[in-house]
Amino acid sequence: MLTLSQVNKRYSTGDHALVGIDLNLPRGQVMALIGPSGAGKSTLIRCVNRLVEASSGSIRLEGTELTQLSGGQLRKARRAMGMIFQEYALVERLTVMENVLSGRLGYVGFWRSFLRRYTQKDIAEAFRLLERVGLSHALDKRADALSGGQRQRVGIARALIQQPNLLLVDEPTASLDPKTSRLIMRLIRELCNERQLAAIINIHDVALAQQFADRIVGLRAGKIVFDGTPQELDAQALTTIYGEEEWDSRLNAEAGEKPPTDLQVLRPLYLTTGEAL
Ligand SMILES: Nc1ncnc2c1ncn2[C@@H]1O[C@H](COP(=O)(O)OP(=O)(O)OP(=O)(O)O)[C@@H](O)[C@H]1O
Ligand SMILES: [Mg+2]
Repeated sequence: MLTLSQVNKRYSTGDHALVGIDLNLPRGQVMALIGPSGAGKSTLIRCVNRLVEASSGSIRLEGTELTQLSGGQLRKARRAMGMIFQEYALVERLTVMENVLSGRLGYVGFWRSFLRRYTQKDIAEAFRLLERVGLSHALDKRADALSGGQRQRVGIARALIQQPNLLLVDEPTASLDPKTSRLIMRLIRELCNERQLAAIINIHDVALAQQFADRIVGLRAGKIVFDGTPQELDAQALTTIYGEEEWDSRLNAEAGEKPPTDLQVLRPLYLTTGEAL
């Protein structure tokens, strides 16, 4: 459903953030995109939704060439993509319900959205979604009174009320504790299954990626250096993606947050099970 062919992105600063990316994402597939900081993960998903313009290459969604669209056509194409990004933060002074309904703004036209008039159907769907993400008790709470995990649930419901067929998710678990991170990833995974949504999820936590994705793509310096199943992501693949030095320091940093653990023991545990975290 989503096909990237020879996508390159060079920022005006000269950074070559994406180099010849070829990627095909079938309907319903949940793909985790991992890689060191600066590898190009955010750039890749931003090129798909056109927050960032690819320098060259083709990006097709359901047969439509996204890189050529503008104006109304681009807005229409974007409706098919649910975005869960830090940049699409909640409107703090609005309630949970209003934040979710704001996901319909791309549909209702200028005056209706200006007056924030939503149809009964939209409101009923917002109720259903908020129940599904476990927030039906907090419909009238203002966004600024929510916890990090609750905010992320509102963001998920807001993305889904657009009825997308692709979810673009940038670091959904940044700043969440390990348990909440797992709950959020599980929720995204289940919703993708229920609605046959494809997803690209940028995530730093390798164990969570392994636990919840169908497929893992590793980026390094703008290139795809790994593309396989969670089971295929072994220590060697991780070294290819993160490099020996970075990978070791990453493990050290994570080990530092836990009771003292022998690194030799931690490594295989960490690689095989998300529950180890
Ligand atoms: N707006 C921008 N202008 C110039 N260079 C940029 C811009 N955004 C990103 N870059 C550069 O492009 C490269 C890829 O950045 P990107 O944000 O895509 O990485 P990332 O994999 O998402 O990293 P992180 O894990 O830290 O979020 C980096 O070298 C970065 O400095
Ligand atoms: Mg990023």
